[in-house]
Amino acid sequence: MSERKLLMIPGPTNVAPLVLRALSRPTLAHTDPQFVETFKETLDNLKKVFMTKHEVFAIAGSGTLALEIGLANIIEPGDKVLNIVMGYFGDYFVKISKAHGGVPTVLDILWGKCAKPDQVKDALEKEDYKAVTITHVDTSTGAVNPVREIAQIVHENSDAFYIVDTVCSLGGLEVRADDWHIDACVSGSQKCIGVPPGLALISVNDRVLNLLESRKTPVSFWYGDLKNWLPVMKDPSKYFATPAVNMIYSLSESLKAILAEGLETRFRRHHIMAEAFRSALGGLKVKLVADLNCAADTLTAAYYPDGIEDLAFRNGMRQCGIVVAATIGPIKGKGFRVGHMGNVSQNDIMSTIGSIEVTLKRLDYNFNAGAGLAAAQQKLL
Ligand SMILES: Cc1ncc(COP(=O)(O)O)c(C=O)c1O
Repeated sequence: MSERKLLMIPGPTNVAPLVLRALSRPTLAHTDPQFVETFKETLDNLKKVFMTKHEVFAIAGSGTLALEIGLANIIEPGDKVLNIVMGYFGDYFVKISKAHGGVPTVLDILWGKCAKPDQVKDALEKEDYKAVTITHVDTSTGAVNPVREIAQIVHENSDAFYIVDTVCSLGGLEVRADDWHIDACVSGSQKCIGVPPGLALISVNDRVLNLLESRKTPVSFWYGDLKNWLPVMKDPSKYFATPAVNMIYSLSESLKAILAEGLETRFRRHHIMAEAFRSALGGLKVKLVADLNCAADTLTAAYYPDGIEDLAFRNGMRQCGIVVAATIGPIKGKGFRVGHMGNVSQNDIMSTIGSIEVTLKRLDYNFNAGAGLAAAQQKLL
């Protein structure tokens, strides 16, 4: 039983057996022509997922490294940065801005809400920024920012570099790096991409590459300096630091599966799963953290009904074989979070809802048994 837990947290997500098996293939030399070929093909496929014709990078590290690389390569000490923050992870960019000598201005959005393009326009009218950072989906609240509309505002009203955290969206929600003028799009392997944690995924456009040539100061951390990685990503037979060979195999398999499913089909699947899950919570009268008009299709955060205690609920779910996550930051202990991204299926959704019902009943929450399952079914017909 213990090996059969269903991971319904907002990352890492359930990894497909084929993708997992790739990790146990013999580790080739990173210079072996066979590996070099796989790496090349994987980067080409990654470009398709980022929807970019520009440069992509797959570097050993977690999503946080991708955020830091994106920002640190663009800003220099004293540069002003507009950080759009609507949750826990938006704040990462504030911390990273400071760590690399940037001067952050925070556009603070209430938890559960998303930024409005006009708020960004107002902020851009008041100040010239070197960069604007935004989180596509903040995993702490399950809210999704209108990244595309805000991209337009940034593009039309400033010269700022637009840096988007797509850790909780790439491969699950529409992300069009080129069409949306995203200068640096940063992500990770362990959520919608369906690979174990361990790879920072980044795309940057020519504006960023040109900027790297004209910086007055060097990028403040050597491992993350994109100029060191660029020759490798253009030609994976080159060396800067040993690539995570088996993680690249794993990414290779997952990207092939993602492209075989088709991005549009995949986004649609995420939407249907999310709709079913949100409807189920509605049926159970469990309140979402995010406003419905900005609820993300990749995860849902919800508040506990009165009388339900955090650990009792999550342990109860564990007994049903399902792992869900706690809420974090200022809403810690007040709710739970469920990831419905990556390889998530109808079975996963229905069994999670069924187990939520069982657990809530065991904890004496009063509702009509089956109300969540029935509401979800309506969305799955
Ligand atoms: C939106 C978002 N950004 C950044 C991160 C940080 O990524 P990692 O934990 O892989 O470093 C996370 C992690 O959950 C996230 O959800």
